[in-house]
Amino acid sequence: MLERLERLPTDPILGLMGLYRADTDPRKVDLGVGVYRNDLGETPILGAVRRAEQVVLSRQATKSYVAPAGNAGFNQAMAKLVLGDGHPALVADRVRSIQAPGGCGALRLGAEVFRAAQPDTVVHVSTPTWANHIPLLSGCGLKLERYPYYDAASGGVKFDEMLGTLDRLPARSVVLLHASCHNPTGADLSEAQWRELLGVFKRRSLAPFIDIAYQGLGSGVAEDAYGIRLFCAELPEVAVAMSCSKNFGLYRERTGCLHIISESPTAGDAVLSHLVRIARSIYSMPPDHGAAIVNEILTDATFREEWSEELGAMRKRIAGLRAEAVKQLAKACPQRDFGFIARQQGMFSFLGVTTPQVHALREQHHVYMTDDSRMNVAGLRADNIEYFAKAVAQVLRT
Ligand code: LMR
Repeated sequence: MLERLERLPTDPILGLMGLYRADTDPRKVDLGVGVYRNDLGETPILGAVRRAEQVVLSRQATKSYVAPAGNAGFNQAMAKLVLGDGHPALVADRVRSIQAPGGCGALRLGAEVFRAAQPDTVVHVSTPTWANHIPLLSGCGLKLERYPYYDAASGGVKFDEMLGTLDRLPARSVVLLHASCHNPTGADLSEAQWRELLGVFKRRSLAPFIDIAYQGLGSGVAEDAYGIRLFCAELPEVAVAMSCSKNFGLYRERTGCLHIISESPTAGDAVLSHLVRIARSIYSMPPDHGAAIVNEILTDATFREEWSEELGAMRKRIAGLRAEAVKQLAKACPQRDFGFIARQQGMFSFLGVTTPQVHALREQHHVYMTDDSRMNVAGLRADNIEYFAKAVAQVLRT
């Protein structure tokens, strides 16, 4: 029976990892998959993670199951990380959390629970959105629609168009928002825009589903969660999917969680009962190791301090690379304005070149980015940024 299946194209993001690895040119530049890199092009294990991991391993006495919703300490620490200590939703006991296999697992659990509540739910995603949002959310049968978001002319957000579209949606439509460090564009909403958006969600009774995969890599831990904190304080129901891949560097440990903020503790308990049932039917329980490490870091003052410093250094490096990329691109391609790269934040920006130009960058200059010209700014280095800018200048001339 399985011989009926035809071979599928490789994943647009993960497929690039293989192509990059196979390239033997020493000048190669990896701006593909969204993985943080230091100035040596490496993705080292964070010091706080290494040390917390030792504590976790030395204390661990069993490999028996933890619990259907995962590590309770981790879930609680993650809720506090995203909402901030003393957030009104925490005080009112309106938050229910489930550990998930990475941010992807959290997104899928959220989609599944919306479907359980309302099978004909439509999820509205930004144009563009992270490529994997589409299969993650539609894979359980939900219908997807799009709302305007990125303004290629300015490198910012088409906020009025976005607002206008959302303001026409039927009640109970789910709207997927990126909390910060928008993937793939790097164009984020300002605090004033989040406040205006809140008015539309209230007026239209929309259901926000907020993805936060880069907390701390944009403007700061609290700043990057501004919209989530606002929405969870003001709206009866919010879903928040978190990932620890980038800000804790735990990629392969598949560490994330989903929080549902409900109108009441009883409503929250009901949602959580569905979430654990859904998880049980897919993978039973989440992997433990990454969550145990994050729990250790977030609940130990010394580890937490070390992690905050390391996260701050990553954030600073990315902002510095953005400024330097603008400088080098201005020198190499003075006819074109790339200033938007420094106004955006997080790991990604659209370079704004055509797919054939992306292919020319890859084939002629060994510079790797996705076909839509999304580049992972963190893949640039002091010793390749000028090479990158000159390569861009060359493909723009052809
Ligand atoms: C990315 O957007 O490149 C990362 O989030 C990695 C992935 O899984 O796509």
